[in-house]
Amino acid sequence: MKALVYEGPMTVSVEDVPDARIERPTDVLVKITTTNICGSDLHMYEGRTDMETGRVLGHENMGEVIAVGEAVDRVKVGDMVCMPFNIACGFCENCDKGLTAFCLTANPDPGMAGAAYGFADMGPYNGGQAELLRVPWGDVNCLILPPEARERQTDYVMLSDIFPTGWHATELAHLRPGETVVIFGAGPVGLMAALSATLKSASKIFVVDRHPDRLALAEQIGAIPIDDSKASPIEQIMEQTDGLGADRGCECVGYQAHDPQGHEHPNMTLNNLVKSVRFTGSIGVVGVFVPRDPQSPDPLYKEGEVAFDYGLFWFKGQSIGNGQCNVKAYNRELMHLIQTGKAKPSWIVSHELPLDQAPDGYEHFDRRDDGWTKVVLHPDGAR
Ligand SMILES: NC(=O)c1ccc[n+]([C@@H]2O[C@H](COP(=O)([O-])OP(=O)(O)OC[C@H]3O[C@@H](n4cnc5c(N)ncnc54)[C@H](O)[C@@H]3O)[C@@H](O)[C@H]2O)c1
Ligand SMILES: [Zn+2]
Ligand SMILES: [Zn+2]
Repeated sequence: MKALVYEGPMTVSVEDVPDARIERPTDVLVKITTTNICGSDLHMYEGRTDMETGRVLGHENMGEVIAVGEAVDRVKVGDMVCMPFNIACGFCENCDKGLTAFCLTANPDPGMAGAAYGFADMGPYNGGQAELLRVPWGDVNCLILPPEARERQTDYVMLSDIFPTGWHATELAHLRPGETVVIFGAGPVGLMAALSATLKSASKIFVVDRHPDRLALAEQIGAIPIDDSKASPIEQIMEQTDGLGADRGCECVGYQAHDPQGHEHPNMTLNNLVKSVRFTGSIGVVGVFVPRDPQSPDPLYKEGEVAFDYGLFWFKGQSIGNGQCNVKAYNRELMHLIQTGKAKPSWIVSHELPLDQAPDGYEHFDRRDDGWTKVVLHPDGAR
């Protein structure tokens, strides 16, 4: 089969690799019809993770079931399915509690919890930027989609990661109707947090970034764009919240946060959130941070530490929640919002490409080139 392989920093290529296949009786085999490039792939693409060369990338996957193992009861050949980026067993203590991002079975490293397709440090599983994907514990990990999903793939594929992850950011921040929220990052995840905040009836949604094309997408759904290259984002938010700060905050950037000039500061969004969220407000962090980043320009962060403004955070009585999203905790309900037309997450999609053009998609999306807001790949060639 053809698949997008990580070759080393800033290099990916489409190669012929052995076909994915059923390996265990609980597996499902999916012919991938739609698979996205994610901001998480870019940390790997840029060589800022432990990703091994030769692995297939891709954790935002949907497609058609073409084979099921003998122990699969629920999922049938022909079903259109969308897979959470997390691989979960469904029966461990964490899965039992709905914490499928921290599954205790799927990651063979005893020091780690949680697994994912084509992801550094999250198990040996290949990704779905490929013609075929092996889905372990298929009954647990396949969300069966309604028939119309075939025609609306750019909406339904967002259930694999970024729509639930944006929702998770607002859950971690305890956002309630009528409250104000500030979201740092207008990438796909930040935009999905903004969409989630509109669905939760937030009264004001501020989205901070410096890319006009991304801020325009935030504005399209009624959020207030805050351009941090023009003026301090903290002052802009204070001005629009009677000097109090937003009720809630979401971090949707991660450890490669940088200033508008491009210099990385891994603590930048965290400290901006502490300053722009009100006393007793809460903050949800879904942007990725890693335990070690030897190539960080920040000496502290080489060992995963950030100079966090803990004094002010404590003084303001704020709280924080963070981590990978438990996609399965939300994907079914969010699917119903898509089905009934209440949510249309495809509004951020800028490019639909065949798999062969994935390397080009990586290059543009990595540079955050103007107009490259979300890249969707179709390994089956159909558009
Ligand atoms: N927790 C999870 O389960 C989960 C799931 C998916 C993605 N992620 C992570 O979410 C993060 C965002 O991913 P993405 O797909 O949206 O792509 P992305 O990386 O393109 O988006 C990040 C955006 O943040 C902006 N930005 C950078 N520094 C900033 C700053 N100081 N202030 C404000 N904005 C700033 C960039 O201009 C960019 O538009 C990544 O770290 C990704 O790994 C986490
Ligand atoms: Zn993703
Ligand atoms: Zn589990």
